[in-house]
Order: sequence, then structure tokens, then C-alpha cells
Amino acid sequence: MLILGIESSCDETAAAIVTDDARPDQRIVSNVVLSQEEEHRPYGGIVPEIAARSHLEHIDTLIEQAMKTANVSFADLDGIAATGGPGLIGGVIVGVMSAKAIASVQKKPFIAVNHLEGHALTARLTSNVAFPYLLLLVSGGHCQLLIVEGVGRYKRLGTTVDDALGEAFDKCAKMMGLGYPGGPIVEAAAKQGDGTRFDLPRPMVGRQECHFSFSGLKTAIRRQIVQLGDEAMTDQDVADLCASFQAAAGDVLIDRCQNALQQFRAIHPGGDTLVVAGGVAANQTLGARLADLEASENITLVVPPPALCTDNAAMIAWAGLEQLKAGHIDPLDFKPRPRWPLDPDAPAAIGAGVKA
Ligand code: KG4
Ligand code: ZN
Repeated sequence: MLILGIESSCDETAAAIVTDDARPDQRIVSNVVLSQEEEHRPYGGIVPEIAARSHLEHIDTLIEQAMKTANVSFADLDGIAATGGPGLIGGVIVGVMSAKAIASVQKKPFIAVNHLEGHALTARLTSNVAFPYLLLLVSGGHCQLLIVEGVGRYKRLGTTVDDALGEAFDKCAKMMGLGYPGGPIVEAAAKQGDGTRFDLPRPMVGRQECHFSFSGLKTAIRRQIVQLGDEAMTDQDVADLCASFQAAAGDVLIDRCQNALQQFRAIHPGGDTLVVAGGVAANQTLGARLADLEASENITLVVPPPALCTDNAAMIAWAGLEQLKAGHIDPLDFKPRPRWPLDPDAPAAIGAGVKA
């Protein structure tokens, strides 16, 4: 099976070809990503209109590159998958229309992939992880704990009541004048820092459920910046603040994952795999913290390689392939979805005992 995947829901234009080879390291035939980081950097965040125009400008070239590198023609494909949501709708429309056009002309199946499912199934692309597993999905737009029971089958245990963790990284970096996207910059700065210097809050730690909150942590960072004096901050201050932020985020993730593991095992006795996915999963320091859970909770931790944690089209092609194998094809009148929860039946975080 040979699937073309297209990703355009945020600030990466990407195209990839994957196969269902039994060997994970042989599955990605081509995988090209064009980041719009430079275009958004002056604004300190993603500007949806700029993103949509840039996707439109580059998507054809990216698809052509992916096809050329893989040395395949459209006629060789078994299906065309594109992110159908959730995401910035202008960009999603660009990817969906491109995929529909190819599918329609070539008379091939079109699969609209949930971007979050792309992240969720990446561990099965890279290491044949079996269902069910617990998933910590941490990206710029999402921060959730889910049980992945099968293709298209998710149980959400927890979500954020305010910011996603990647968003908190980005906002803290912006407050410190470090640039965009914040995650990798904060991680790099933290390497020279002392994570115990600033006493930052650990929001939600100790609570019974599995929800997240990061706005209080962000506010605490802002307060520290004001106290230090924005202009007077030294490189060491910045490094210490970044390291302290990351230490707090790590404590939160560990505590939330411990609760979620308990709930996961109550539903699936013997469940022993924790997968981390989404852009923040590229963070090696947080990855090392989560690796401590392997011994303390007797689990296997699976973190895909960094380039497959951040947005890419190989994960979309792979999720499309899994959907197609499960017999799922989307009609050509599929409507792009700005919102598309993996578990539509999950109760809202607020009202579930999250607020004090
Ligand atoms: O999954 P992704 O590429 O896009 C979304 O679907 O949101 O995630 C992007 C997010 C950004 O907030 C970025 O700052 C964060 O992932 N990120 C990181 C790292 N690399 C990317 N956060 C922490 N540490 C990193 N190394
Ligand atoms: Zn993403």
C-alpha cells in the first residue's frame, strides 16, 4: 500500500509518501516539510491569513517533491490523505482541496485525517505499538491524555482548561523576548539554567483527575520577569527561568500521567505503554523526566523521533493508511473542520470538578 499524505493545518506545509512495509524503518518513502517559521516570527505567533496564503503558494511544489523523492506517480498511489482538521481553517482547506483534486482526477480514495490522530498513531508508524495504549498528546494547540483503543477509537481522560503546554512554552518565550516558536528555544536556554532557582507553581498537581492548566505558570513567569526587571535580565536569569519553567512543566506531566495510568489500567488491566506525541514531545529534557515513569510505574515509554513529533505529513499519510485498512474512505464533499475532537463524548473539563 502506498499513501500520499498532506499536512497544512498550522504553520508547516508538508507532503509525504508512506507504505505499510512490515519494517517500521522502511515505511517512510519520502517526507518533506516546509516551515513557515520565518514568515510568522516577526509577529511572535502564527498569523492565520499569512499561513493560508503560504500553504497555497507552496503546496504543489511540496507534493511534487514528495512524489519525486519517492519516485512514484499518482497512478501508483492507493489513497490520498490530507489533514481535514482541527486547525487553522484556511490552511486546512488548501490541503483538503489539493488532496480531493488528486483523488478525483486519479479516481483514488480520499481520506480526511484528524490531525490529532496523525500525532496519536505516529508511534505505530515508527515502532509497531499495539492497541490499547495511553497517549500524552502535547502540542501547540492541544494538551490531552487519551486512551487509544484502536483506529478512530479514543477515550479522553484529561485536557487543558486553559493553555496547551506548547502554547505556554511559546508565550513564556515571547515574554522573555526569545522568539518563536518558543519550545525549542526555551529547551536550549534551560540547558545552562538552574531549574530550582525560581519557585514556580505546579498547577493541578495532586488533583484526582487528569486535567491540565498552564495559565498560572505563565502568570508566575510574567511576575518573575517584572521582579527581575525586563531590561535588566541577564542571560543567566533567562536560562534559570527557562529551566525552572521546564522543571515545573515536567512535574505536572509526571503527576498527570500517573493519574492517567491508574485510570487506563482500571479500564485495560495490564496496559503498560505510554506514548508521547505532538510538538512538545520533541523536548528531550521532558522526555527524560517521563522516562523515569518506566521504572516507577513499570511501563514502556514510546516517544517518536523529534522530527516526527512536530507537524509533518508522514503521520498524516500513516493515519490515512490505517484508516483505509480499517475500511474508511471519505466522500469528496468532506467539509474541513476547524474543530474535531478525538473523543466527541468526553465531558468538558470545566464542570468535571476541575475548578476549585
Ligand atoms: O505538534 P506541533 O508541531 O503543532 C501543533 O499541532 O500544535 O507543535 C508545535 C508546538 C509549539 O508550541 C512548539 O513550541 C512546541 O510544539 N515544541 C516544543 C519543542 N519543539 C516544539 N516544546 C518544547 N520543547 C521542544 N523541543
Ligand atoms: Zn500538531
